[in-house]
Amino acid sequence: MATLVTTVTETLRYRGKLGQWAWVLHRISGLGTVLFLILHVVDTSWAAFAPEQYEQAIAEYQSPLFTIGEFFLVACVVYHAINGLRIAVLDYKPEWWGFQQRAMLIVLVLTAIVLLPTFIGMAGHVIDHYNDDPEFVSIGEILETQAQFVIGFVVILVAALALSAIYGAISGSDKGMELPGRFEATLWSFMRISGILILPLVFGHLAMMHVIQGVFDITSTGTVVGTDISNANGTAVEFVGARWDMLVAGVAIWRIYDGLLLALVVIHGFNGLRYVVNDYAHNPLFNRALNWAIIFGAIALIVVGMAALLAGVDETAAETARQLME
Ligand code: HEM
Ligand code: HEM
Repeated sequence: MATLVTTVTETLRYRGKLGQWAWVLHRISGLGTVLFLILHVVDTSWAAFAPEQYEQAIAEYQSPLFTIGEFFLVACVVYHAINGLRIAVLDYKPEWWGFQQRAMLIVLVLTAIVLLPTFIGMAGHVIDHYNDDPEFVSIGEILETQAQFVIGFVVILVAALALSAIYGAISGSDKGMELPGRFEATLWSFMRISGILILPLVFGHLAMMHVIQGVFDITSTGTVVGTDISNANGTAVEFVGARWDMLVAGVAIWRIYDGLLLALVVIHGFNGLRYVVNDYAHNPLFNRALNWAIIFGAIALIVVGMAALLAGVDETAAETARQLME
């Protein structure tokens, strides 16, 4: 905790100019996206396993609070992706290190160039939606849904702390969690390679879900983005079902796309979370507990996401969602 406080105060005091702020923004945008990702993968699995809850989650995404959050999320992903690309390219090209300052300016300009038309596209959907005088989910309902996630985080953290204390007492270890050096080096390369692979996948996903069709159109009737299937009843569950059932030459392209995105983004994001934790949590008890929670969290999220992709949206789930609309 003391390390975190020192980092915040020193970050504000230290005049490291653009490089320092590029790093701070990269860290905050990465952490913000990981937080969203955890909620999002669990939410999405409800389309297959808890259709009523999925309809509720999408209704919450369509409320003003989440509309503001959506703009922040897109800004985080776009800046983090473009700055991540700069880090990855320059790390492999030491002969270009003299251009660091210019490269950071290019990142800011490119971020603005990508965000401007994206925000205009998103704002168009927002205006259309709000002009239709929609009904909003109340703040109380939103807090109730999100409280489940807070309880989940607390349970995982308490369990990890208890296990770490028991482990410390039995082994007498006064060390946090350390990975073998060669494995750390592999993860370092993975962060760069996965980042480059994630970029087109996540930009494609965001283009479909924010610009082309938009988060409000998940519950509209008509052809579902990236498919030739119609969402006849305008339920969110059928939207996901249509995308996962879309076949091109017998191949469920969006299930494969989502599966790749899921695996890459979870391992990248949670390993990034591990870097942040190891920078601030030096107490062995906390360090072990947080590292274990991160490893468990990443595995659990991949299992839940993949299980939903494999199960798909069956007729019972679609029917449940349809009845909810009536
Ligand atoms: C508010 C913004 C977003 C919306 C409305 C949205 C919407 C959706 C929807 C409807 C699906 C269901 C499957 C499909 O249609 O392909 C999905 C799946 C997925 N999304 Fe997003 N998405 C958003 C942002 C993101 C971001 C920023 C990421 C990455 C960090 C992401 C990662 C994923 C993954 C990994 C899956 C597959 C989940 C699973 O297998 O259960 N999404 N998203
Ligand atoms: C879209 C393309 C992306 C690129 C090109 C990219 C690139 C990078 C790079 C190069 C790093 C630095 C790794 C290191 O310090 O060794 C990094 C860190 C990180 N990334 Fe990404 N990333 C991308 C997407 C994402 C997404 C979608 C998430 C969240 C799910 C995420 C979360 C993080 C986190 C939490 C860190 C650690 C930040 C820190 O140590 O300060 N990244 N990313």
